[in-house]
Amino acid sequence: MEVITRVADLRNRLDKESSVGFVPTMGALHNGHKALIDRARAENRVVVVSIFVNPTQFLEGEDFSKYPRTFDKDREVCRLSGVDYIFLPDVDEVYFSDELSILAPKERGFTLEGFHRIGHFNGMLQIVLKLLNIVQPQNAYFGKKDAQQLALIQQMVKELFLRVNIVPVDIIRDRDGLALSSRNRYLSHSERDRALAIPKSLEIGSKLIMSGERSTSVIINRMLNALQELDIDYVEIVRRDFQNIESVEIGNSIILVAVRVGNTRLIDNMFV
Ligand code: PAJ
Repeated sequence: MEVITRVADLRNRLDKESSVGFVPTMGALHNGHKALIDRARAENRVVVVSIFVNPTQFLEGEDFSKYPRTFDKDREVCRLSGVDYIFLPDVDEVYFSDELSILAPKERGFTLEGFHRIGHFNGMLQIVLKLLNIVQPQNAYFGKKDAQQLALIQQMVKELFLRVNIVPVDIIRDRDGLALSSRNRYLSHSERDRALAIPKSLEIGSKLIMSGERSTSVIINRMLNALQELDIDYVEIVRRDFQNIESVEIGNSIILVAVRVGNTRLIDNMFV
């Protein structure tokens, strides 16, 4: 395994490869990231993982400076998972002064996460487009954990005619149901306990649907009840294309939750 910091060096290594799987990350790797890496390892000859805490997707006052940076451990995770290259660029290697920008779509990019984190998806798409162009993989792996991010990346690939296959990967959870996230390490013991209301609320939602309930407002209200101890940003049920719906479409809907537990913002979802 090689750790590469320069775009030109990575391109040299990958120039003649026709089976590259790519996993973009911000590091602080956990078993959710590992699921993406394992899938990439199984499906490609060469596996590239990028580790880059992308400044442009953090808003003023968010956790950019305190975002966990655990490179030594991340390198071990990658090595043990059979990764071929870690791409670890400096900001100056991938960003330029007065550069052009990519804008998230006006509607889907500015609801839900995009509404609570205005501009976040512009920066996310900017870096993902750059990384996809640098690595030029055949397959790129993204978690369903960030469902709106995944949908916007799929939209970008389609509308900018990028030649890459986007592979969605299921959410990996801890034994107690909490979705793995690099931000979970901010939680105190008692905050973590309270955060378990998130997967519980999703279970309440999915059980209601299984028992025949289809009204999104009824389901959302029951979930809001289960989350009342937390600061709720939103509970929503949307179609997989992120359009609003009044009635759940089985096989084509997503239940989304975003809450703040203390100072930590957590998101989770369930595809139904
Ligand atoms: P990061 O939060 O590090 O996540 C990297 C990838 O891991 C994303 O595709 C995310 O959805 C996936 N992931 C995180 N937790 C997961 C879990 N519990 N189960 C399954 N997959 C999980 O998302 C980003 O970084 C950045 O926005 C990035 C795409 C790298 C652009 O900067």
